[in-house]
Amino acid sequence: MTERNKKMNQEPEKTRRAFLNKIWGALGLVVLGEIIWLVVSFLRPRKPRAKGDGLGTVITAGSVEAFAPGTVTAFPRGQFYLARLEDGGFLAISRKCTHLGCTVPWVEEDKRFACPCHGSTFDITGNVRHAPAPRALDLFPVTIENNVVKVNTGKRIKRSEFRPSQAAYTK
Ligand code: FES
Repeated sequence: MTERNKKMNQEPEKTRRAFLNKIWGALGLVVLGEIIWLVVSFLRPRKPRAKGDGLGTVITAGSVEAFAPGTVTAFPRGQFYLARLEDGGFLAISRKCTHLGCTVPWVEEDKRFACPCHGSTFDITGNVRHAPAPRALDLFPVTIENNVVKVNTGKRIKRSEFRPSQAAYTK
């Protein structure tokens, strides 16, 4: 092969290599950009929740008469259930299972909370009926002012079991 032919064969090879280098460079920049975006997203502080809107705030549930004795009302924004006991007392019960934290729905037909994850059940006071949950569902403090029921979702109360003193009553 002559020197001239060798040179002609090397030209397309150089061009192809240069093109591939540009592609790899562009892909590297895309990957770098995504990594930077992920790191910035991870480090950026979350927006604070609006006041009165969800967990961590005081939620006005409604007037005492709006809740019949023996009923349970869900407050999804506050992540709790407001249970009105047969004797008129109120409990704000966390919907988070005390076993591994699944959301526990209230099953009206059975009058109990039934965790879908591992089968724990709780009565209307949040007391454990069936394990594996190790203790009663958490509470949030309830206050009744001027016949209006309010729940402080910023203060979680852990408990082993239900005691009558945990319920809030009208004076
Ligand atoms: S998380 Fe509820 S029973 Fe396991």
